[in-house]
Amino acid sequence: MTFPDKLGNLNQEVQQLSQSNWQELEKKLLLQTGTRVPVTMVRGQGTWTWDDQGREYLDFTCGWAANCLGHCPPVLVKALEKQARTLIHISDQFYTVPQIELAQLLIEHSCLDKIFFCNSGAEANEGAVKLARRYGKLRLNGAYEVITTLNSFHGRTLAMTAATGQSRFQEPYTPLPVGFLNVEYNNIEAIKRATSEKTCAVLLEPIQGEGGVNIPDDDYLQKVQSWCREKGILLILDEVQTGIGRTGTLFAYEQYGVEPDIMALAKGLGGGVPIGAFLAKESASVFSPGEHGSTYGGNPLVCASSHAVLKYVIDHNIPAQAKRVGNYFMSKLESLKQQFDFIAEIRGRGLLIALEFNQEIAERLLMACFDRGLLVNRVKPNAIRFMPPLIITEKEVDRAVAILTDALKEKN
Ligand SMILES: Cc1ncc(COP(=O)(O)O)c(C=O)c1O
Repeated sequence: MTFPDKLGNLNQEVQQLSQSNWQELEKKLLLQTGTRVPVTMVRGQGTWTWDDQGREYLDFTCGWAANCLGHCPPVLVKALEKQARTLIHISDQFYTVPQIELAQLLIEHSCLDKIFFCNSGAEANEGAVKLARRYGKLRLNGAYEVITTLNSFHGRTLAMTAATGQSRFQEPYTPLPVGFLNVEYNNIEAIKRATSEKTCAVLLEPIQGEGGVNIPDDDYLQKVQSWCREKGILLILDEVQTGIGRTGTLFAYEQYGVEPDIMALAKGLGGGVPIGAFLAKESASVFSPGEHGSTYGGNPLVCASSHAVLKYVIDHNIPAQAKRVGNYFMSKLESLKQQFDFIAEIRGRGLLIALEFNQEIAERLLMACFDRGLLVNRVKPNAIRFMPPLIITEKEVDRAVAILTDALKEKN
């Protein structure tokens, strides 16, 4: 079939479907890479979102932890509007003010010294690994291997699929890029055993998010840092999910008494606008001009928006709010555990929380919550994850817990 014919047929088919039949259109037009909840969302405000039928939902998924200030926060909308009228995009051969202002704010509030902006979490980790490999080439006799952990999640590019220690993401794409060793999480001995003269870095999430909200022992990251220092290799922390206040401090590393050599950020950094970044200590900042780049990375529109979000997060001490409301939410979930004996465990820090069951009921529970107007994430067959906006109130938590209780009762 020629291209115009194909387009003609498709147009006809598309027109036959009514305008409101977005879900059927999606199946025709998009590569089917995942499953969706059968609802078309058209609007969001704060912790709430509305579908095309006017139903409202309490959103505890928050764009996969990206909408840290909720849907359409005024501070972000204002910055977007202002910058859209001023300068949206320009090539990276020029200096631009929003990019430098955002860099300054991030560096002032972290232990890192230099930054590179990109567009997503996968790209941020990819860049972080490239920087570590460059370091290995220049300082460690060409060492290139990166040790990562089982049940981790670092993104969907081919290299980050290799870094991600979960076979369900890896198997469809083998053979994968070489240079990644996946070892057990929360086990310093496993990292020690995997280290060789070929190792240039260890890449870890301070708390594993996608893997099920797995919280390591309090001293794990310190032990990893000591080992990295002893061996002269780099510690890369993937704070794509944990960063920007999600776990109760601006960055999760602050709670563990460590300082990464490189840190990857995305998600909450943009508050819903696509941005990623990796930051490095001066000692690890070994790129030379021409060795890395991105067309959209650090563009004025996104950086002005991200700057507004980050400044709001810092000025209003949003991480402390996430910690306080997160503790409140955890205490409510603990009470549910008394009521429902199939709740096996509650894990969380700040507003990154998982509820694990001793049965594989997560999908059914997700749908039961959805039917009652609460959006949650099925992170494992036997666990659901909550990552509401950091501005959520205790009242909204109460509402969510009431819906969850009702949904859990239905399970019985
Ligand atoms: C810890 C972590 N790293 C990386 C990524 C990938 O980010 P993105 O989807 O923006 O590429 C994610 C996404 O969930 C994540 O949770």
